[in-house]
Amino acid sequence: MVKIGIVGVGTVGEAVIKNLEKNKDLIKARAGKEIKAIKGVVRDINKKRDIDIPLTTDYKEVTRNPEIDIVVELMGGVESAYEVVKDALLHNKAVVTANKALLAYHRFELQKLAKTPFEYEASVAGGIPIIKALRDGLSANHILEIKGIINGTCNYILSEMKKGRDYKEVLKEAQQKGYAEADPTFDVGGYDAAHKLLILASIAYNIDAKPEDILIEGIENINLTDIEFAKEFGYEIKLLGIAKKTGSEIELRVHPTLIRKEEMISKVEGVMNAVSVIGDVVGETMYYGPGAGGDATASAVISDIIEIARGNKNPMLGYKIPLELEKLNLKPTEEIKSKYYLRIAVNDKLGVLEKIANILATNNISIESFLQKPRNGYVKLLFATHICKEKEIKKAIDEIQKLDFVIKPVNYIRIEE
Ligand code: NAP
Ligand code: HSE
Repeated sequence: MVKIGIVGVGTVGEAVIKNLEKNKDLIKARAGKEIKAIKGVVRDINKKRDIDIPLTTDYKEVTRNPEIDIVVELMGGVESAYEVVKDALLHNKAVVTANKALLAYHRFELQKLAKTPFEYEASVAGGIPIIKALRDGLSANHILEIKGIINGTCNYILSEMKKGRDYKEVLKEAQQKGYAEADPTFDVGGYDAAHKLLILASIAYNIDAKPEDILIEGIENINLTDIEFAKEFGYEIKLLGIAKKTGSEIELRVHPTLIRKEEMISKVEGVMNAVSVIGDVVGETMYYGPGAGGDATASAVISDIIEIARGNKNPMLGYKIPLELEKLNLKPTEEIKSKYYLRIAVNDKLGVLEKIANILATNNISIESFLQKPRNGYVKLLFATHICKEKEIKKAIDEIQKLDFVIKPVNYIRIEE
């Protein structure tokens, strides 16, 4: 029998315990051994729960328990989870985690420390087996590009906003459904997707970047005007995580993106996630499934537990020896190129358009299309640009923002075609 201890018995922890029990015969057959959760760790021992295993508030009763083979970390957070996982590894336990924030900061240290199996399938895209696909299934490929919807909460919010629903109300609903992080600003601010992108980029490119090193923007500024514009011009708005290799540079970014309606990724709605991976040998592959929620995540966590129970130990980030030949560098954020959509609210005066067009032109930005929406007492100007550099558009926006007839913060969304 393989005995596991679960640190964190919340949305995911409870679902893991329930599904281990529900599918125990099948899991035993696939793992070759019975798997049993024998202890859980929580913060509040008095909280009413829907599971029946002994609980404690002291994680060491799990990480240092001689009976336990696998420690499953499902508590969230960065430093406290790091302490728990490190303690488990130092006490020779195999580790399974769903914690992308932990891995975004400590994956390379943990890889060095882990002499026992360490798996983390649930940390990216919930129920989609993207880690195993990228690390194992695509291991023959140079990865040219990864592009994905990797936050279920944001995709759920953007999908519901298209129906005219209020942002705050939908976010609350995503929290009630167990999709959102304990602090949902990680979701809507783009940080959770960035954590996941960094994990994927480490497997694809062996690159050790931190969230602070990459471009991260969330969906907080998207409003109904943007959604209307997208509809009118044949786009969908999605929060994307993008990793691209050009020469010896890797570009990593997370931001709301306008994508053509015909693209497969545009059709991904609600809590579903989708990741496209382009390899030099295989071409484009695409992965789709539920990106958040207790059961979907438990499916991935249990697959890791089974993998370890079978006796497998995979190289954590997919490399048995260092990748010496191909030293790849992170592309500086200001050099990233994209097309942009701009939303500018102005007082309706003569010459407004000319002044804005001049600023764009002097910053090397050419306009692809334009739309004007009259509102109560002011006008919204909506532009789509041709490709330009991040530093050029940021400078132009700064200059436009200072014009006296611009009455609200200028908003922008990148266009990916
Ligand atoms: P959750 O519902 O908030 O559950 C967290 C659990 O951890 C709770 O049982 C909590 O105890 C316990 N906990 C938190 N801090 C603790 C501490 N310092 N000491 C002991 N116990 C502590 O979170 P969740 O949604 O299950 O997410 C868990 C992890 O999975 C996170 O890393 C998250 O990012 C990741 N994840 C979640 C999903 C999802 O859809 N929810 C999907 C993929 C990955 P109490 O119950 O006593 O408060
Ligand atoms: N909060 C995350 C999301 C959970 O909404 O995608 C899954 O990682």
